[in-house]
Amino acid sequence: MEITAALVKEKGGHFELEKIRLDDPKPDEVLVRIVATGTCHTDMAVRDQQIADTPFPFVLGHEGSGVIEKVGRNVTHLQPGDHVVLTFGFCGECDNCRKGKPAYCENFMALNFAGCRLDGSHSHHSDRYEVFDNFFSQSSFATYSIAHKNNVIKVPDEAPLEILGPLGCGIQTGAGAVINSLAVSPGQSIVISGAGAVGLAGVLGAKACSAGTIVAVDINDDRLQLAKELGATHTVNSRDENVIESLNRISPKGFDFGFDTTGRNDVINNTIACLKSFGEMGIVGVAVKPLEIEMNAFVAKGIRLKGIVEGDSIPSEFIPAMVRMYLNGQFAFDKLIRKYKFEDINQAIEDSESGKTIKPVILVGEYGQ
Ligand SMILES: NC(=O)c1ccc[n+]([C@@H]2O[C@H](COP(=O)([O-])OP(=O)(O)OC[C@H]3O[C@@H](n4cnc5c(N)ncnc54)[C@H](O)[C@@H]3O)[C@@H](O)[C@H]2O)c1
Ligand SMILES: [Zn+2]
Ligand SMILES: [Zn+2]
Repeated sequence: MEITAALVKEKGGHFELEKIRLDDPKPDEVLVRIVATGTCHTDMAVRDQQIADTPFPFVLGHEGSGVIEKVGRNVTHLQPGDHVVLTFGFCGECDNCRKGKPAYCENFMALNFAGCRLDGSHSHHSDRYEVFDNFFSQSSFATYSIAHKNNVIKVPDEAPLEILGPLGCGIQTGAGAVINSLAVSPGQSIVISGAGAVGLAGVLGAKACSAGTIVAVDINDDRLQLAKELGATHTVNSRDENVIESLNRISPKGFDFGFDTTGRNDVINNTIACLKSFGEMGIVGVAVKPLEIEMNAFVAKGIRLKGIVEGDSIPSEFIPAMVRMYLNGQFAFDKLIRKYKFEDINQAIEDSESGKTIKPVILVGEYGQ
């Protein structure tokens, strides 16, 4: 079938809307009409070849939401008409998947970043060039996606489908890091650095855990204001304040947890300096520089450092759980979202990179209708 996809054709390049062809789903696959798709910094990191040697032209997009059009013959738990969120790809069969840790799937890079299926084939075609696809097993910057049955998550019909895509990556990562990975208990304290989409989702997660003290650290006052609205008990602008002094003032005995979304050495070290003995520090950022930790205090306090992918979530459980919390008025992730038309995808990316928009959502479904 013919679809419209946003193709990025060179390192750091713009997205160009183009008509290309999409195959029918294979037996384990699902064809989804995309209603909307979020943009995440990982799209930009891949466009800029920061994660791997990205091949071009590539159809990116990995926070899709939409409606199932067709299912392959091995797909029994989903059917046409289902409302779904697309999340990261995982094989479901390796040791880590079997341990209930699909975000650490041994085939994670191949299923999410390689630009083709595991067997090297493509579902997207053009007469002009080889099109790289299967990004996060979905390539959802397009009017239709082929996804794998593992990463298509059914959501309730009454939830607003056009804003649900970011639950598949950015929001799942932040909220899941606090709820699943760090497993913050009621009354415990946490410092969350970076009040972007992932950090603010972390604030929502901390609130859902009934954390006691929730401090958001950023350099942008508007984002810190929003962090307060979402449940942060304190905020620190690290451009105007000495972070360590401010954190020590807020909690003189230190914090139980730190969660960093900035990927910056100085920010991570400042947070670690303010943790209690046996405190735990979670990190998620895609960084270009190696992490250097000031070791002595780290060792002396028995601090634990934890790398986190996709909030350690089991998407088929965690995504519907976030939808339920949202519908109950306890998880206002919609406050992070600004909507854009498909033809304005480059503006959406620019606004995300400049910090103007926290979480752009591209309304693909309205395109051409
Ligand atoms: N591990 C995973 O599974 C996973 C999943 C999704 C995203 N990510 C990564 O998480 C990171 C965060 O994503 P995001 O969408 O929230 O990005 P974002 O750009 O929206 O947020 C980053 C925030 O950090 C703030 N910041 C920058 N410098 C700072 C400083 N010196 N001190 C304090 N705050 C500072 C920015 O103002 C911004 O608000 C990205 O690197 C992204 O690629 C990882
Ligand atoms: Zn696996
Ligand atoms: Zn992402």
